[in-house]
Formats: sequence, C-alpha cells, structure tokens
Amino acid sequence: MFNPFDPEVRRNPYPHYAQLREETPVLQMGMWIISSYQDVQFVLKNPQLFSSEAMAGPQGHAPGVIPSIITMDPPDHMRFRSLVSRAFTPKMIANLEPRIREITHGLMHAAGRSPEFDLVEKIALPLPVRVIAELLGVEPKRFHDFKRWSDILVDRMMRPGAPPEQIAYEQAEYNAFTEYFRWAIEDRRKNPSDDLISALIQAEEEHQHLTVDDIFAFAGLLLVAGNETTTNLIGNMVLALLRSPEQLAKLVADPSLIPSAVEEALRYDSPVQILFRFARQDIDLGGYTIPKGAMVWPVLGSANHDETKFADPERFDITRDASGHVAFGSGIHFCIGAPLARLESRIAMEEMLPHLAAMKLPERPLEYIDAFFLRGVKRLPILLPEPAMASMPPSPMELAKLIRASGTALAKESYAGVKTLLRRGLRRGDIGIL
Ligand code: HEM
Repeated sequence: MFNPFDPEVRRNPYPHYAQLREETPVLQMGMWIISSYQDVQFVLKNPQLFSSEAMAGPQGHAPGVIPSIITMDPPDHMRFRSLVSRAFTPKMIANLEPRIREITHGLMHAAGRSPEFDLVEKIALPLPVRVIAELLGVEPKRFHDFKRWSDILVDRMMRPGAPPEQIAYEQAEYNAFTEYFRWAIEDRRKNPSDDLISALIQAEEEHQHLTVDDIFAFAGLLLVAGNETTTNLIGNMVLALLRSPEQLAKLVADPSLIPSAVEEALRYDSPVQILFRFARQDIDLGGYTIPKGAMVWPVLGSANHDETKFADPERFDITRDASGHVAFGSGIHFCIGAPLARLESRIAMEEMLPHLAAMKLPERPLEYIDAFFLRGVKRLPILLPEPAMASMPPSPMELAKLIRASGTALAKESYAGVKTLLRRGLRRGDIGIL
C-alpha cells in the first residue's frame, strides 16, 4: 500500500508513483490519491468540482489565520487574483534581476571560501528569503526577524502538532510578524514607495481595493509559498546535475540551456509533490465515485513522471521539452510566483555554473525535509577543491584586509582601483589569499 509518510517513500517516491499509475491511478486510502497526468489536470482545472479550501489543512483555517488566495474558490479567488496581479507584475519581477544577481553573487562567493559548504544553507535558502524581503520592502535591520518569521510560518503550516511550548513560542513570533506587517502597511499608506506592499495598497479594479487583512494574508502567503519551494528547486536542480555528469557537461558547454534545465528540474524532482482539494459534490473519476466532502490529493510529482506525457520520464534530460509539467500547478491557481522562481533559479545557475563542474558531492546519505508534500534536501554538502576556490573573486573583507596591509602591491591601490581589478577578473588565487 502506498504510504506518502514512509521515510523510504520520501527518499525516492518515483517508483511508488509508477506503481500507482500502473495499478491504481485513483486510489482511496482515506483521502483519494490521484496520480496520472490526465486526472491531476482534471482535478486542478475544475475548481467548481474540487475546492481549494483543503489547502488550509485538514482542519481548515487555524483560528486567527486570515484566508489567503491559495485557499479561495471562485468567485472570491478571481477578484483577489486580479487585484494582486496588478501589483505582482512580470515587469516588477524583471526589474529585480540586477539585485537578484548581486545577492546571488555575494552568496556564492561567501560560500566558496571554504572547501566544504552546505549549498542549501549558504545559497538556496537565503536567496529567496532575501529577495522576498526586499520585494516587500522589509527594512534591512529586520532581515533576521523576517527569516525567523518565515521559518515559523512554514513550520506552522507544514508541520502541525508541535508540543505546547513550541506552539506558544510560535504564536508569540506570529504576533510579532503580524504587528510588524500591519505597521509596514500603515507606513506605506502614508509614505508610498516602489515596493510590493505599496503596489498592493494602490492596486485597484472597478473601484475595489485590497483591505489591510488581504494584504497581510498575501504577504504571509508569499513567505510560505515562495521561500521553501524556491530553495528546494535550486537544491534539487544542483543535486540532479551533480548526479548526471553528462548533463552537467552539456550545460557547462552551452549555458543557453539553463532555462530548459530549470524546467526539467521542475519536472524531474518537483518542489511541490502533492496539492490538496475537497470534492464539492460526488464526482466520477477512473471508475470510482469520489463522495462529496472527500479529501483529494493530486500528486504533481507523479503527473510529472507520467510516461503517457513525458517519454522516458525517470531520465533527467536538460534538452527535453518539459513544457506542460504541472510543478507550478495548473488552472486558476497556477503559481503567481512562477516568473520570480524561474528568474531566481536561472540567475543562481548562471552564477554557480562556472564552479559547478568542480563541485563534488561527499559520499554521505542525504536527508529530506520533513514536509511530506514538498520535496527537497535539508542539507546539500558540497566539496570544493582548492583550484576552484582560487578562481573565486576575493570578498570585500579580504580586500579591505589587503588594502590595509602595507608592503603589498595592492596596498598602494585606491579602493576604486581594486574594484576595477575585480571587474577585470581579479581572482583570489592571483593575490595569494588562499
Ligand atoms: C520553484 C518554486 C515554486 C513552486 C514549485 C511553486 C508551486 C506552486 C504551486 C504548485 C501552486 C498551485 C497551488 C494550488 O493549485 O493549490 C502555487 C501557487 C502559488 N504560488 Fe507558487 N511556487 C513556487 C514559487 C513561488 C514564489 C517565488 C511565489 C511568490 C513570491 C509564489 C507564490 C504563489 C502564490 C501566491 C500562489 C497562489 C496562487 C493562487 O492561488 O491563485 N510561488 N505555487
């Protein structure tokens, strides 16, 4: 019997999904597990039959939690989505590119200063958190709070059933998060800026606006929906590449394949494996009748490995046409953050690619994250040999030390001069920092 909570299944769910598609594509085991591409699409594309209220969890919304777009059904969903889309535009996302590159560059070079580092901790995790914090206009001095709140929101949703003292601590942090964001929304109302909160306040359609509650709920959802998912995408993609040296070599030889590699990584090892819906009426599917009120789980990870849609699905192939994958969902709830996730992962790959061929995975078992419906590793240890480290530019701290130190050629250079050298490709190996 398929058990999505079994650690063995979590380590590699794909053979289990293949068996489900083969033997019981519609499986009843309390909830209804839907595993074929065609049936998953049917569930996601028929919100009049399948309600997204189930995305709030089996017990519905926790007390005090304001419903957000991901748990809404039509017609509320449409009104909310079109208002939010006025603020969260492709242009706003595209404008983030230089800043995302700067952040990734800094993270990559900080990580590359030790011969072994955890790619999740040093790059894949901080990148999306920083980007969303800046997008929302969180003040830099509150970044650490923001990261903690983000973790707690994810934990509350993904891992319910914590001991009472943990719940009390999380509630106190949630209250601090509420207080900060309500203050920030009021502040932007008085002093509009070019951040997303200001854009959400100004969004208007047919004289309708988002309320403070709406904006607050959306900001909270961005943390849950946008952080861990992007972290997992970057981690899963690097892992797949390091495990497929011939694919990595293709990418190194032709970096224009990066966008296609991102799509293949989304298909091959989807960061969101399972979604949740309630049947709104009795529904006939695959020879069964799913009764009204039943919990339905469309398994995205399985749909993305369905051999009737993707040839040789267990093969990671960065040149395949992975379009049509459902890693970002399908239908009315299709991920609003998809352009941002694609941009962040493309830039992360571009920044990492020059060093990727030198990176090695240590021979240790990997541990997967606890949330059973998401997929990603807790840690991704990477070994970086010395020559690869020497090819990294020095950090600002290292440069400052060099400039201060007398007797070196660089000490005579002005800071601007050093920056020029950096732009021209000065590497740590050139100046003997290692
Ligand atoms: C690789 C990264 C990501 C993956 C795999 C992903 C996946 C998904 C999926 C599967 C859904 C559909 C949920 C459903 O049908 O119930 C979704 C919805 C959503 N995602 Fe993402 N997401 C990612 C990144 C992001 C980012 C970066 C943001 C925002 C900053 C974001 C914001 C949202 C929002 C707001 C929704 C709800 C849309 C709606 O209900 O209409 N996501 N995402």
